[in-house]
Amino acid sequence: MTTLYTTSFKGIGQITTRELRFYFGNRLSNIRTSRVRDYDLVQFNWRGDPLPLRQLGTVEDIFYWLADIPLSGDRDDLNALDEMPELNSALNLHKRFNGLPKRRTKYRVIVQAAMQPWQSYRRSQMQNALERAIRRRFPKWRLVPDNANLEFWLQQTGAHIRLGLRLTDHTTRHRTYKSANRPGSLRPTIARALALLTHPEDQDIFLDPMCGAGTIAIERALAGRYALIRGGDIDEQAVADARENFGDRHKPREIFHWDARRLPLPDWSVDKIATNPPWGRQMGSPSELHALYRSALAEIDRVLRPNGLVAILTSEWNALKTALAPTDLTTIEHLKNIAVLGRRADIFVAQKF
Ligand SMILES: C[S@@+](CC[C@H](N)C(=O)[O-])C[C@H]1O[C@@H](n2cnc3c(N)ncnc32)[C@H](O)[C@@H]1O
Repeated sequence: MTTLYTTSFKGIGQITTRELRFYFGNRLSNIRTSRVRDYDLVQFNWRGDPLPLRQLGTVEDIFYWLADIPLSGDRDDLNALDEMPELNSALNLHKRFNGLPKRRTKYRVIVQAAMQPWQSYRRSQMQNALERAIRRRFPKWRLVPDNANLEFWLQQTGAHIRLGLRLTDHTTRHRTYKSANRPGSLRPTIARALALLTHPEDQDIFLDPMCGAGTIAIERALAGRYALIRGGDIDEQAVADARENFGDRHKPREIFHWDARRLPLPDWSVDKIATNPPWGRQMGSPSELHALYRSALAEIDRVLRPNGLVAILTSEWNALKTALAPTDLTTIEHLKNIAVLGRRADIFVAQKF
């Protein structure tokens, strides 16, 4: 049994837990969650080979758990950082995730801790203590400030520290398909959370009517089988960017230059929708924004089939609630306070009744 944990953006951890249960339910046990700064941590015990976890779409990173250290506040806490009985297994798994480093192993230690008055040492001393512990074991490794091939993370919550080895690299969170990036484009992990909230099914006709660079539509394509992926945007450059990001992959799919207030689609022709409409300064005035939400939601209601699902990410709660009121869409889930591009947004999942 291996103990691992994932990090997801604040608010997304609950979807990561569902994603883990959905894809790997029989291999997991003892799932527990916590929050460190702007991240949700989901820790669990894992049976079998952990490599398939690389397909998780809502996580920023996956870590091998090395130790949980209760803190007293005395300098003895620093000595406890020496104990990492699982370190060799963690290093072996890291090799399987990343291959062997081409040259000498370079490592660094990352500390996320808001120091408390009862701690009689500084954050830099925690970092030094862990660096010393690693150097003692592996004198040939080189300590570097960045571009390390091994990262040890030390994260404090209250009177407790979690120590882990990062197994994934930046391609997990940023993906490799995003060649065309746009300001306001969603992080892929949040886009995947939206796609998963529509409960993907093999026969889905999926739509993002305001698709920007296409992140949500591509993440839906990556999340499982589907019949057709459709996206569109009013901005021609966005349409070009979405096409570039799709490339030759994920067929059948259609990307249109259109206005989401007048979709060229028949009634009841879509099974699932996920989108993040403009918010804040992305639109001219508040009244324009309200008008856009009203018309776009009326169209979503029209093209969605009965019982179909729509997931919407926005921080324009009032505009959305007012726009939903006259439709047949009923909110069935409301996830609050997702950390998105430095703002707080909510996800609303609605079903057409
Ligand atoms: C917040 S961005 C979406 C970002 C997208 N999820 C991504 O990851 O790139 C909102 C998008 O809505 C588009 N938009 C605004 N008004 C629209 C309309 N009437 N019809 C279609 N798209 C519209 C904007 O051009 C913009 O690309």
